[in-house]
Amino acid sequence: MSNSLEMNKIFAAVLTAGVTFGVAGLVARLVVHPSAPQQAAIQVGEPAAAQAAAAPAAPALEPITPLLAAANVQNGQQLAQRQCASCHSLNEGGRNGVGPNLYGIVGAKHAHSEGFAYSAAIRGMASKPWTYEELNAWIANPRAYAPGNKMTYAGMASAQSRADLLAYLRSISPNAPAP
Ligand code: HEC
Repeated sequence: MSNSLEMNKIFAAVLTAGVTFGVAGLVARLVVHPSAPQQAAIQVGEPAAAQAAAAPAAPALEPITPLLAAANVQNGQQLAQRQCASCHSLNEGGRNGVGPNLYGIVGAKHAHSEGFAYSAAIRGMASKPWTYEELNAWIANPRAYAPGNKMTYAGMASAQSRADLLAYLRSISPNAPAP
C-alpha cells in the first residue's frame, strides 16, 4: 500500500517536472525566437501566393457590358489613337494598313474588311459577329482569343480601359447593337 503511494508521488513529481520543462521550453522559445510564429505564417502563405501567381494562366474575363454604361468615350478615343491607330485606320472608308480599317467593327462579322489578308485564325471565325464580349476578349489578349492570329498587340489589361475603348469603337459603328 505505502509502496504504491510512494510510486504515485514519484509519478506526480515526474509529471510536474515534465510540464514545467515543457512550459519553460515554450517560454524560452518565445523569448529567444520571438519571430518564429511570423516565419511560420510566411511559410504558410507562400503556397497561396504561388497559386495566385499561377492563376492568370486561366483568366476568367469579367463581362464588359456592365462597365459600358459609365465608360468614357473620349478616353477610349485617346487609347485607340495611341494603341491601335498605328496599324488601324478608324475613319469611314479608311484604308487598310498593317491591320484592317475598324470603322463599323462593333456588330460586324470577323474578317469584315474586304481586301485585307486575314490570318486563317480570324478568317475561320468569319461567320461570327464581333460582339462587345468578343471584342473585349480579343483586346484583352489577342493571342489567347485567336491562337495563330497576326495582330502583334500584347493586350490591354485594364477592364475600365477596354470598356472606354469599346465605347469609342461603338461610337464609330453605326450598326452596333445596344450593349
Ligand atoms: C501592330 C499592329 C496592330 C496593333 C497595334 C493593333 N492591331 Fe488590331 N489587327 C492587326 C492585324 C494585323 C489584324 C489582323 C489579324 C489577323 O488576321 O489575324 C488585326 C485585327 C483586328 C481586329 C479584327 C478585325 C476584323 O475585321 O475582324 C480588330 C477588331 C482589331 N484588330 C482591333 C484592334 C484594337 C482595338 C487595337 C488597339 C487596342 C488594335 N487592334 C491594335 C494589327 C494591329
